[in-house]
Amino acid sequence: MKKIVINGGKRISGTIPISGAKNSVVALIPATILANDVVTLEGVPDISDVASLVEIMEIMGAKIERNLEEGRLVIDTRSVVSRPLPYGKINSLRASYYFNGALLGRFGQATVGLPGGCDLGPRPTDLHDKAFKALGAKKIQEEAEHLEVIGDSLVGTTIYMDVVSVGATINTMLAASRAKGLTIIENAAREPEIIDVATLLNNMGAQVRGAGTDIIRITGVDEMHGAQHTVIPDRIEAGTYLALAAAMGDGVIIENVIYEHLESFIAKLEEMGVGLTIREDSIEVHKSENLKSVNITSVPYPGFATDLQQPITPLLLKAKGRGSIVDTIYQKRVNHVPELARMGANISVLDDRIIYDAPNELTGSCVQATDLRAGAALVTAGIIASGTTKISNIEFILRGYDHIIEKLTAVGVDIQLIEE
Ligand code: UD1
Repeated sequence: MKKIVINGGKRISGTIPISGAKNSVVALIPATILANDVVTLEGVPDISDVASLVEIMEIMGAKIERNLEEGRLVIDTRSVVSRPLPYGKINSLRASYYFNGALLGRFGQATVGLPGGCDLGPRPTDLHDKAFKALGAKKIQEEAEHLEVIGDSLVGTTIYMDVVSVGATINTMLAASRAKGLTIIENAAREPEIIDVATLLNNMGAQVRGAGTDIIRITGVDEMHGAQHTVIPDRIEAGTYLALAAAMGDGVIIENVIYEHLESFIAKLEEMGVGLTIREDSIEVHKSENLKSVNITSVPYPGFATDLQQPITPLLLKAKGRGSIVDTIYQKRVNHVPELARMGANISVLDDRIIYDAPNELTGSCVQATDLRAGAALVTAGIIASGTTKISNIEFILRGYDHIIEKLTAVGVDIQLIEE
């Protein structure tokens, strides 16, 4: 079993480069199926979710050259066939649901194992099914372990999303890119990853307009083609390291960031009293003193991201005063709380509201990463804490953080990956 061991309490300094966005690339890889040609993706992070998707694509017949040291995947989807995709690998990540939209768009049918991903409480996919049905899918059948969708002649229509959903918006864009006529998505999610996917789709010959607003118009095309695309920087990885730098940095530069993608997060850091210098594609975090507690409410983009609620929590524990975190996207995304309490934090959950009373002195402990972003929170907490922290279940962390050990070692963190 792999574990991360951190000897905490040491200040950090230097530069942390940010990799390509996990939540983009996990949609971009399935999207290449629509090209029926060769697509080159640059800036691809070396994370286990990418490895899983590459493996699934190869099962379908894709030919993939990977050079993840240079962040490149060259994906040839000309010999892909829509064969049933097994539950096992598919269930290891959430984004496998994008194979439904991509296969439906290209072949008119998909049989894909039900998605897995982090346990954040209920994660329904009813909006995905609703969109496929509206586009004309004749059969949408959910069996115990897979979803079968058949819709050989999709026709564009207007789809109102009852809830703002990243996954359902992207899946609808994928399927509608090859439908007949115009599809309009109303109440679409506006996350930067949606713009990134739309950019690749358009480079492959699709006609997607309005991505990044809450109304997206997709005019279906008969054929798409190869393209080259660079993945946007990962705003969640950037936010994780910005919070760490604010907690433990003596001057840390977070490099390869798009500031606009992080505005609501940075506004919270500034409200806490964190000193920042914003440059064109980097952010310098100054040494922080006298941090103030803040309340956080996660909402859809451009509001505070649910994915950053857990990674910022250890920083909140260094501030002075009481505060709360309310996650309106995933009310049960609180698995990091008992682990932080085990490290000495004065933090608890009351009616789906996380309450903390700080500042707290954290002490190294044996803790478990229960999901990806909870794991990131524990890494930061371990770096802040005095003594040794041993984190188990780190497979979650490796799903989304590229070269985390190397990046943190380079800024002075005493961190190791061990096999036990
Ligand atoms: C994506 C991200 C995840 C992030 C989340 C919210 C990926 C691979 N994952 O997940 O990291 O935490 O966005 O920013 O990009 N909902 C429904 N019905 C549906 C779909 C969603 O009710 O059919 C609800 C969900 O329960 C949740 C809300 O809509 O409350 C938003 O979920 P959604 O944006 O779809 O999350 P994911 O795309 O799964």
